[in-house]
This record gives sequence, C-alpha cells and structure tokens, in this order.
Amino acid sequence: MIDALKRKGIILAGGKGTRLSPITLGVSKQLVPIYNKPMIYYPLTTLMWAGITEFLIISMPDDITYFKRLLGNGSKFGITIEYASQEKPNGLAQAFVIGADFIGESNVALALGDNLFHGQELVSKLRMANSRKVGATIFAYQVKDPKRYGVVEFNKEGKVISIEEKPENPKGNHAVVGLYYYPNSVVNIAKKITPSKRGELEITSINNEYLKRGELEVEIMGQGFTWLDAGTNESLIEASNYIKTIEARQGLKVACLEIIAYKMGYISKVQLLELAKLHGNSSYGEYLIQRSKEF
Ligand code: TTP
Repeated sequence: MIDALKRKGIILAGGKGTRLSPITLGVSKQLVPIYNKPMIYYPLTTLMWAGITEFLIISMPDDITYFKRLLGNGSKFGITIEYASQEKPNGLAQAFVIGADFIGESNVALALGDNLFHGQELVSKLRMANSRKVGATIFAYQVKDPKRYGVVEFNKEGKVISIEEKPENPKGNHAVVGLYYYPNSVVNIAKKITPSKRGELEITSINNEYLKRGELEVEIMGQGFTWLDAGTNESLIEASNYIKTIEARQGLKVACLEIIAYKMGYISKVQLLELAKLHGNSSYGEYLIQRSKEF
C-alpha cells in the first residue's frame, strides 16, 4: 500500500548563476557561502525540518562531484541523498521530469537551492504543507519588485485569481517563493507542459494547472517570515549579514545540518560528536560540541 503522506524532497541546484559571475564561473552558486555555511544547507535544512528524509539534488553535470563531496549519500546525517544532472537550465518544472524515478509514487517538495527561509512559525507551516493529503501548496511573500517572480493575484476575499510568471504589469505584489509542495500528479503534469516564450519549463505552468483543478493552496508568508533569494551580489551579502546578525544575537546557528539531524532523531549524540570532529577546531565544530552538551 502506498503511504499517502510520504513525501520526498528535491533541491534544484543547477542554473547558470550568471548574475553572480565571475564567482559562478568557478563554482556552483549553491556552494557559495551564506555567511558561514554553503548555500545549499539552507534549503536542505528547510525540507529536513518539515520531516523529509529522502532527497534528490539536481545540478549541472560538472558540479555534482562537489555536492557529493560536501554531503555524500546523506547517511552521516541520517538521511538519503541521490543526485541527478540537468544538462541545461531548461526551467524549474524540469525537476519533476528528471526526478520522476526518484519520486516514484510519493508526493514531493521542491526547494530552490538559492532560497533561504527563516521565521518563528516556519516549521509548523512547513509541517502543515507536508501533511496535506490532497492538492498542492505554494507560498506567497510580499515583495517590492514582483516583476522578477511568479506573481499571485488575489481577489477581495483572498481567493487566488491568477499566477503570472515575471509579468510586465504585476497584478499584485505577492511573489511565489522557491518552495513548492505537490502531490504525485506533478510528475505527469510536468511531462506535459511546453516551454514558455522565454524557452523554460515554468513552475508557474504547473501552479496554474493546480489552480485550474481547484487543487492549489497559496499560503501567505507574512511579516514574521524572512525570504531571501541569494542570486545577486547584493542579496548574497544581505543574506550573509542577516544570518550573521541572528546567529550573533541568539548564539544559535541557523540551518545547522548536524543539529537538525540530531533534533529530528536521525542521528545519535555519539554520531553528532563524530560529525563535530570533521570540522576540526573551527567555530562550527566547537558549536556542535557545545550544543551536544545541552542534549
Ligand atoms: P535562477 O536564479 O532563476 O537562475 P540561475 O541560478 O541560473 O541564475 P541567473 O539568473 O543569475 O543566471 O534560478 C533559481 C534557482 O533554480 C537556482 O537555485 C538555480 C535553479 N535552477 C535550476 O537548477 N535549473 C533551472 O533550469 C533553472 C532555471 C534554475
């Protein structure tokens, strides 16, 4: 019998990263640091908090080696990580075609590798989306510059009317963020969509299909949430400063893979201390040891 709630996670870590050139001529964008850890730690831990344990990382063929070197098959964190390549950045929706075998009969969540989420109610919001048995859940966040994103139009009753990808004249200022929860039907929908005018398989086409079916839930991420996408030099430094400020204030690290793996019950304290050794005498390693004393 298929477990109706089983959900796997895909992290899209390909793309050209042209806006970060020349940095991205030599390294994948999602391996570039946000303050003190590689960018991919942030979306990976976001999905881990939601209870997902099986992951597929999709990246450009040349970069997979480096993601593997960083994260391996996930076993040291008590999760599984598989890898697949996307030859060209043909669009976000291609994740479900490339990941079709990995998804199998499960539901799936997709996180963009350069998106960072933070906020008090985040974990409960994610777990709610994760446990929804039918339909798709996406999240909308108010932004100043909606033109760069998929834009959600709401009517007066708060019902979603339309979603448009990078519109010239946005019909609202709520952008769709890079975190999407879909039922298994997304695989077939993704296989059928055709490239947009800009030549990409758009995630917005998938969201519009669920909207048409009456199976799309758009959750607002309000002012208590932070959503950053670290695709430009400015947003990269902003994201780093944001994480630095919060970590300094609280004395707690954000997106700390090892601590989250421990807190989710995927690894033991002994394993956590073993992982700490991998970081030598860095502040990250010291932090893991110090935190483990609290558990
Ligand atoms: P973008 O930021 O839209 O694109 P990009 O990373 O190629 O950057 P640039 O515009 O500077 O060239 O992509 C959002 C995220 O999705 C990012 O993590 C890269 C990833 N992505 C893929 O993995 N495959 C794709 O086909 C696309 C379009 C994006």
